[in-house]
Amino acid sequence: MKLHPAFLLIVMAFACASEKPQPQPAIIPQPLQMEATPGFYRLNEKTRINYDTGLENEAGLLVKYIAFKTGLKLEMIPDRNQQNVIRLELSDLVDTPEGYILQVEGHEIWIKAQTTAGIFYGIQSLRQLIPFQKGETVKIPAVKISDEPRFPYRGMHLDVCRHFFDVDFIKKMLDAMAAHKLNRFHWHLTEDQGWRIEIKKYPELTRIGAWRNSTLIGHASDRPEKFDTIRYGGYYTQEQIKEIVEYAAERHITVIPEIEMPGHAQAALASYPWLGCFDQKVEVWNKWGVSENVYCAGKESTFDFLENVLSEVADLFPGEYIHIGGDECPKANWEKCPHCQSRIKNERLENEHELQSYFIQRIERFLNSKGKRIIGWDEILEGGLAPNATVMSWRGEEGGIAAARQQHDVIMTPNDICYFDHYQAGPEGEPLAIGGMTTVEDVYGYEPVPEVLNQSEQKYILGTQANVWTEYIPTPEHAEYMIFPRLCAMAEVCWTANEKKEYSDFMKRLKAHETILDLLGLNQ
Ligand code: ACM
Ligand code: ZN
Repeated sequence: MKLHPAFLLIVMAFACASEKPQPQPAIIPQPLQMEATPGFYRLNEKTRINYDTGLENEAGLLVKYIAFKTGLKLEMIPDRNQQNVIRLELSDLVDTPEGYILQVEGHEIWIKAQTTAGIFYGIQSLRQLIPFQKGETVKIPAVKISDEPRFPYRGMHLDVCRHFFDVDFIKKMLDAMAAHKLNRFHWHLTEDQGWRIEIKKYPELTRIGAWRNSTLIGHASDRPEKFDTIRYGGYYTQEQIKEIVEYAAERHITVIPEIEMPGHAQAALASYPWLGCFDQKVEVWNKWGVSENVYCAGKESTFDFLENVLSEVADLFPGEYIHIGGDECPKANWEKCPHCQSRIKNERLENEHELQSYFIQRIERFLNSKGKRIIGWDEILEGGLAPNATVMSWRGEEGGIAAARQQHDVIMTPNDICYFDHYQAGPEGEPLAIGGMTTVEDVYGYEPVPEVLNQSEQKYILGTQANVWTEYIPTPEHAEYMIFPRLCAMAEVCWTANEKKEYSDFMKRLKAHETILDLLGLNQ
């Protein structure tokens, strides 16, 4: 049979099509520029990881990621002149601090970046391109990616006080954050319901303050109130804290500890009653809400205590920030306390709001003297903002907007979008939550830079984060269920340029990405 020339043309067109660019790979967060090119790199046992000096940590992690996905155990070699390599190279070609270029070609793969962080993010993208497939040869589709983050601050917060989460779980979350190119872990370590960080100078904080005798059952609004009468608690030793800080640093995540003051302090007062206004004996709290048992702002001993605590904290956490809370501090005790009232008089303060501002400013001065900066929740605007403070806006965006207008750095975490303790669906069929409704689509649609700010004010918005409060989240599995996949959407809000964001496209990529979440052992 003789073939018609037109038919041959069609066959040739098909042959070419198979060499044509594949569909764009599904990477979350979506890179700035990505072009799928024809062909594959064939990963095999002879592939070597070749890295510049200073990239041993990143190369080592890449070896582990590849072994996990393919079973191939690759060797690392510092020698440049090798074939069949994945090459990690520090290069001025990339001019943004966390940006990278990743190229997968037929004969090699290379990642270039100005910094180790950029290389690490290139590796995270490559990791998503490698199929989960055991075998002698694993094909990675060719692609060119040039990428950088939209925001420098890309975070997740975790409350380990209402419920305690162990070191293994924290590491698992850090791994998941790193996989999504998030770089700030805000660790909420002290609360009314539990003090979770060992402080050598004040052992009662963990001997007494880390344990409560009972916990509320059901929702805080349920009546009558019911309690489980089970002793509950836990804390991190300083050795464990160092281990976590180091684990995070290897993954280019800075840990920001939060030591709450002047409110949310009942566990500290349970440990040392002299920290309160009336030296009254209280218990570590067994309910959810906002306790009136706050630090006395009048006594010097309160500041001595906090400075000693913060000195130990500053030594444990190398990052620039310490979060000092500042939210939800009821003033009822201060109004009646002679120490607080004489402080107001002697410092010529107008009222208790200015007393709170005095408190925060004094702590800020101390921490600045230790080379640290403070972050506080947006209540720290009340009574006057501490001069160098960064504001975390949670009661909507108004606090963040006001702070940016005062030329203060801002992290936007408005609760209607960024609080992952809200329902994500249902609420029928969903586990009990605090309330609210924040779907994946709500998170995805978030724009952290308010239009009402002018361009010079907008640059004070450093980024955003998910906040995971755990009153209603008692177990690791439950926490994962609340965090994923909403954190994937948040990662894209943090990283991806606005013009590259599209919800329907994200949802398609999320389908493929679910396999990755499964591989990370995350309950979605
Ligand atoms: C907060 O949710 N109280 C910061
Ligand atoms: Zn007082």
